[in-house]
Amino acid sequence: MPLQIITSVEEMQNYSSVLRAKGKTIGFVPTMGYLHEGHAALIRHSCLEADSTIVSVFVNPTQFGPNEDFSRYPRDFERDCHIAEEAGAAIMYAPTVEEMYPNGYSSMVLAGKESQVFDGVSRPGHFNGVVTVVAKLFNAVKPHIAVFGQKDYQQTLVIKRLVKDLDFDIRIIIAPTERELNGLARSSRNVYLSEHDRENASLIYKALTAAVDARQQGEKNAQSLQAIMQKILMTIPHVHIEYAQAVHADTLMETLDFSDDDSIVFLVAIRLGTTRLIDNFVWHP
Ligand code: PAJ
Repeated sequence: MPLQIITSVEEMQNYSSVLRAKGKTIGFVPTMGYLHEGHAALIRHSCLEADSTIVSVFVNPTQFGPNEDFSRYPRDFERDCHIAEEAGAAIMYAPTVEEMYPNGYSSMVLAGKESQVFDGVSRPGHFNGVVTVVAKLFNAVKPHIAVFGQKDYQQTLVIKRLVKDLDFDIRIIIAPTERELNGLARSSRNVYLSEHDRENASLIYKALTAAVDARQQGEKNAQSLQAIMQKILMTIPHVHIEYAQAVHADTLMETLDFSDDDSIVFLVAIRLGTTRLIDNFVWHP
């Protein structure tokens, strides 16, 4: 079936109501477009879990700060449609900003407690914008399942909190991070990087794996685990390290020493020039 493009909320809701009336399950992959292999993997995952997969492409202005890259965020709708179709999507839902936030629009959803650390601090208002748009997309697409990437680890916790707290009847699936050959996590923002930057940015992966290896070998002190990441990240020329931390995987809470049965998430955010890159690894006992 060729990919069908839907741009209005009403048409999206009607389409999903018809699918539901036919007893079909709906899978949903929300994105901001400029799709890459990471997004394609989420789409394929959704296709395995649901009868019909809907992909949204919407560069959401409410989750960008005033000095962030909203206006220069990369866009290529035709290519996005091609990648979504190849990966098995049935529908591309691509509303305009005016369709999503028409004149008079004034409501926001407040993100829960997991939004108050890390990127919630460095990007004030970001997660309120994310949960607002995701709630709106859920109400348009009416999915049974929705697939998110572990690449944005804090976002996955914030979305799970949204779904739990606001009683969305949607199963959230988290799919693993897709990486380039050198370990760099795939991201739409990687287009901002030169070849040289991309090579340097692969040290994020090295930092994360070194910390995971150290925990595997018995290191449980948070400071020591963080120092391992810092040391490697500091070798990246012109790097600004926003954070490189080891925290509890479920709550993002800091600790001095982890105990044997703690799951840990290693979180990194760096800036290379004007490009902000995030990545993470989760370690389970
Ligand atoms: P975007 O950055 O386009 O990412 C869309 C989805 O793809 C997210 O769930 C993200 O975690 C996932 N993703 C990105 N890179 C990935 C990779 N390398 N491997 C696996 N999954 C990856 O995240 C957003 O858009 C927005 O905040 C959104 C949820 C769409 C709300 O506007």
